[in-house]
Amino acid sequence: MDAVHREHLILIGLMGCGKSTVGKVLSKKLALPFFDSDTEIIRVTGVEISTIFEIEGERAFRDREESAISDLITRDRSVIATGGGAVLREVNRQQLKASGTVIYMHALPDIIWQRIRTHRGRPLLASSNPLQRLESLYSERDALYRDTAHCVVNVTSEPPSVVAAKIAEATGLERGDDDR
Ligand code: S3P
Repeated sequence: MDAVHREHLILIGLMGCGKSTVGKVLSKKLALPFFDSDTEIIRVTGVEISTIFEIEGERAFRDREESAISDLITRDRSVIATGGGAVLREVNRQQLKASGTVIYMHALPDIIWQRIRTHRGRPLLASSNPLQRLESLYSERDALYRDTAHCVVNVTSEPPSVVAAKIAEATGLERGDDDR
């Protein structure tokens, strides 16, 4: 494996908490590149995430996700948004923790549901009761996110710029030490 860059800003949290949108804002604010593990998987495979779930199944998707994360952390310092299930594998949790500051964007299921109820393309929410599915993902994963994160930022309905500012403050990047 290539050398891991240890100063990334890594966003974790449930689907729909705003990792990609906030990550882009944060990357502009800090003048760092932005990467998203799902986007990398789509780039490599040439198909949507839902197609990977349909054709190859979740386990194969998780393998692809693990490879995408291993690759992203070897790149130059950047802001990295991860897929909501990235914390399910111990190897990912260890890799993420060791390669930067991990921020858990914590949002409650009903807040997330308000944000994403009109979106499509999330295979894990293709259920007859997506809110209940989100609630069970939350109870399965909240402890894993907390265990992986160096800091937790609560997200409700603030605009992405406000969440990005909260993250910059929580990680100490507002204090002018973002040129490490
Ligand atoms: C998943 C979240 C999705 C995507 C895939 C699985 C999950 O990413 O990786 O659909 O297991 O929670 P987002 O969190 O970016 O929606």
